[in-house]
Parts: sequence; C-alpha cells; structure tokens
Amino acid sequence: MKEDLVLPATRETRADTAPEPLLEVSGLVKHFPVKGGFPIRRTVGAVQAVDGLDLTVHAGESFGLVGESGCGKSTTGRLITRLLEPTSGTITYRGQDISHAGRRQLAPIRSEIQMIFQDPYSSLNPRQTVGKIISGPMEINGISPEGGREKRVRELLETVGLNPEHYNRFPHEFSGGQRQRIGVARALALEPKLIVADEPVSALDVSIQAQVVNLLQQVQKDLGIAFVFIAHDLAIVRHFSQRVAVMYLGKIIEVGDRDSIYARPRHPYTHALLSAVPEVTLTEEDSPQRERIRLAGDVPSPISPPSGCRFRTRCWKAQDKCAAEEPPLIQLSGNRNGHLTACHFPEDPTTEAREEDIVLDPALAALEEDRN
Ligand SMILES: Nc1ncnc2c1ncn2[C@@H]1O[C@H](COP(=O)(O)OP(=O)(O)OP(=O)(O)O)[C@@H](O)[C@H]1O
Ligand code: SF4
Ligand SMILES: [Mg+2]
Repeated sequence: MKEDLVLPATRETRADTAPEPLLEVSGLVKHFPVKGGFPIRRTVGAVQAVDGLDLTVHAGESFGLVGESGCGKSTTGRLITRLLEPTSGTITYRGQDISHAGRRQLAPIRSEIQMIFQDPYSSLNPRQTVGKIISGPMEINGISPEGGREKRVRELLETVGLNPEHYNRFPHEFSGGQRQRIGVARALALEPKLIVADEPVSALDVSIQAQVVNLLQQVQKDLGIAFVFIAHDLAIVRHFSQRVAVMYLGKIIEVGDRDSIYARPRHPYTHALLSAVPEVTLTEEDSPQRERIRLAGDVPSPISPPSGCRFRTRCWKAQDKCAAEEPPLIQLSGNRNGHLTACHFPEDPTTEAREEDIVLDPALAALEEDRN
C-alpha cells in the first residue's frame, strides 16, 4: 500500500504565513442616488444597495454569495469586477487597491477578473459568430495565443463541451444551456484568476442547471480559478462553494465554511433560507425531520432600511435591542473556522425540526390550514 507523502512545512503551508488573499473587500458601500423634485430635479435619497461589506476570496476558492432579490448581490459583483465605482470602502486585488482605479490602472487586471452573466440570451451579441464572441476579449486585449486565436477558440469550445466545428454559428442556433457554455468559454479566453458568476444558471431549465454547474465546478478545479458564485438560494451553491456568505439588504449577515453554514446556521434568516432547501443527500429513513420556516413578505426598501438589524421586520425573534443596535458580524461562541454571524439573539446551531413550524405570514398560515 502506498504511504501518504508527508511534506515538510514550507512557507506556503504554514498558517502564520498564509498567502495573501486574491481579493479583499472592506467596508464596501454603493449608494445609488434617487432623484426627485420639480421643476429642479435633485437628489432626495439613496438606494443603499451595498452598505458596508467585508469579504475575502483566496486563489482557486469558490465563494458563494446568496440572498433574496434586491439584496445587492449583482451590485457587489459589479463592484468587484469594477464595472461600477464604489461610493466608499476598498477593493484590493492581489495586494493592489483597485477601489477607484482608472482605466489605465485597471487594464492589466481586466483580463484576470471576468464575469459570467445571468441571462445567456442578452449577454451574447446575436450578430456575431461564436468564434467572434469568444475571441473578442483576446482581440480587445491584443492577445495572440500560440497557433492563433481561432485554434484557441476551438480549444475553449471543447473545454466547455461544445463542438469546435460550430465556430461559425450564431447564438440563436444554440440552446440556453449551450449559450451559457459560450459565455463560460468567453470568460475563460483570457485565462482569468477570478470569475464572478452572477446567477449563471437561474435563467436555465432546471434539467440543464446541474450540467452547467458541473462545468463551472470542473473549470474551477482543473484551472484553479477562484469563483464568486452568486445565487438566490442555498441549494445551488451547496455543491459548488467551499465558503458561503448570506446577504440581506446590502449587508452580509452570516458567512462561513460550507459545512458550518449548512449544519450549524445561527442567523434566523439563514435558518429560513435553509428550511426552503430540499435535503438531497440523505435517504428518507436517516433524514432527520427538518425545521420548516416560511419566509413571507418582501424585503424592505433599501432606500429606507429598518434601523438596527435590517432583518428585524421579518424576524420572529426581534426585540427592542434589534431596533436600537445594529448587530456586529462576529464569531459566536461555539462557532469555529471564521463562521461569523450578525445577530443579537442567535438561533441554536441545528436545522432539526422545532416543536412547531414557524410561518411568518398569517395569510400563508390561513391558506395552509384551509388545505389541511
Ligand atoms: N443602477 C442602479 N440605479 C439605482 N438603483 C439600482 C441600480 N442597480 C441596482 N439598484 C438597486 O439596488 C438594489 C440592489 O440591486 P441588485 O441588482 O444588486 O440586487 P440583486 O441581489 O442582484 O437582486 P436580484 O436577485 O433580483 O438580481 C435594488 O434595490 C436595485 O433596485
Ligand atoms: S438581531 Fe434581532 S431582529 Fe436581527 S436577526 Fe437577530 S434576533 Fe432577529
Ligand atoms: Mg442580481
């Protein structure tokens, strides 16, 4: 039997000299001005789309960012890729502060950070061939790979599971899943170090979603590319991301290693999101009864978010303190490995069924009673 190789501790493997993160975001804020007034339009408020976000992504890591519609996920993605200018806070990429970097400073980094968009229909130019679409980033950046761009595009088509012979076809000749593969090939063209994938499968048929997620996972592992994977629910990032952050109204309310987040969630909102995730890994017999929380009602407006804890208007545990003081994002006792939670009255670290289901909307509860 082969013995495990034991390597001496090198500089890279020692925790105290851990390599610097690929991406570090600190206190990131993006407020969009709201205009109003007549006859002179002026700024009357701000959409607090992202409001003080800290996160770290290491080389080759997959980081999941999850939350309901409007909580600021896409804005975060666009800030990281610097398609948007932050209102304040810092974005550091490979040790370089790029928060307000201009076009010239960003040029060498542009190729290293790529984005995959949600909608494979609108993100591909319908008048360009697949070859032109995928080679576009190489042209813009003046990159001529060995053997020529066409050879490279054919290789990329093969990497993403498409027929290289389809080089001259147009996007409308492909299905939704295939189009998203084209989007992946385009993102890979410049050999990026970081890909921000903004809900890359939510516009696809459920039957196709797993195939595209598998492709992304393969790309992440084989090419060592770091991912920020944005999703609506926790089910999709579960098999993809080693670390997961949950966002609510412009803030991260819980973040940690995947296992810790899924097995020992502490924030009530994470509990609610998780109770909507079907348990797929356990068989019927050994599956414990899971809790059931129905999160109803809309996320409050990011123009005037609730004081204190932003989740308090939907939280079943809210008390006076929650309105008065914003809970800091901290490591609670009993949690390890950088599992951080922002809650004054955290939940028990379990997802097992409670004595009673929590149904947050009385109208929904009445409907359920009628059905039973
Ligand atoms: N360019 C903009 N101008 C004004 N408000 C904006 C702009 N972009 C986003 N917003 C607002 O910022 C908030 C966050 O939007 P964002 O698109 O980041 O959310 P999201 O989490 O990606 O939502 P979804 O899941 O629906 O994609 C929303 O209230 C949105 O209306
Ligand atoms: S701080 Fe209060 S309102 Fe916010 S999640 Fe915790 S218990 Fe609920
Ligand atoms: Mg979005």
